[in-house]
Amino acid sequence: MRATAKANSNIALIKYWGKRNERLILPTNNSLSVTLDGLYTETTVHFQEGRTEDAFTLNNEPITGIPFERVTEFLDIFRSYVGKHNLYAQVDSINHVPTAAGFASSASGFAALAAATAKALQLDLSNEQLSKFTRQGSGSACRSVYGGFVEWEKGELDDGSDSFAVQIAPQEHWDLRIAAVVLTAQEKDVSSRDGMKLTVDTSLFYDGWLAGIPHDLQEIKSGIAARDFEKVGSIAEANCLKMHATTLGANPPFTYWQDSTMAVMQTVHLLRTKGTLAYFTIDAGPNVKVLYLPEDEEQVLRTIRQVDAVTDIIVSKVGDGISYQ
Ligand code: PMV
Repeated sequence: MRATAKANSNIALIKYWGKRNERLILPTNNSLSVTLDGLYTETTVHFQEGRTEDAFTLNNEPITGIPFERVTEFLDIFRSYVGKHNLYAQVDSINHVPTAAGFASSASGFAALAAATAKALQLDLSNEQLSKFTRQGSGSACRSVYGGFVEWEKGELDDGSDSFAVQIAPQEHWDLRIAAVVLTAQEKDVSSRDGMKLTVDTSLFYDGWLAGIPHDLQEIKSGIAARDFEKVGSIAEANCLKMHATTLGANPPFTYWQDSTMAVMQTVHLLRTKGTLAYFTIDAGPNVKVLYLPEDEEQVLRTIRQVDAVTDIIVSKVGDGISYQ
């Protein structure tokens, strides 16, 4: 009853921003992501008869408190599913992602945890079923089950049985690069969970956010199919700006951006005015991800490194889905 799984992180080009059901993690809108090969989590789950509680280590450190509770509550979903309520596990994760700095560590983390748990319990799940389990740990994680370009269908049903991710194009479809620009490795102030709840509950701009989604999704999917980088990049960047605009209309208002975030955004704009196609996107934290084509790598990285606040750049190609060791 022991298994190890590796999951890559993903970056949303069309953001998931808001839940219609907090407990089941059901979103208000479809989202669409690219799986990243440079940011990943490897997790071993070992269920042992006779254990009286779960234990969790992250990067070889024992974890307690809320992060531990999220893991054990997630294992409860599997325990209920198999009807073994007293079967506990040792969970060991190595996170190759700066934790909680807006690099979706929860995405690779919960996808690896779900996959290792299902395998340790010898459940033979389809990707669709695995995506539904994973979703209940962290929404964005349900997209990390697959490689390539992935859409999370929000579903309509109250029980969440139609809310899961599907692959819309495999990893080989398009050789893009995504640079994760590290500005700070500090824990963020407002979690994605709290940020989206406050926005859904109070933001004057939330309806506008939802109104723009069908157009953005349709256009980005046709752009991906045609490998039209300008189209995909400009829609992704605009969608990110709309998501972040909703936080300014919340009560109380907040933003994930820092001055260094804007410095990188302006540098990406500058690259474009000088003829290099590069686009940014930002999740629920200060760091920026920059999308570009392989032939522009040197120019893009050299220019971004010139921004004072940049401490590191992690380059990813389009990654693959879950793998097992
Ligand atoms: O799944 P969570 O709770 O980490 O929320 C992710 C929210 C965003 O990263 C901002 C958008 C997304 O679709 O990944």
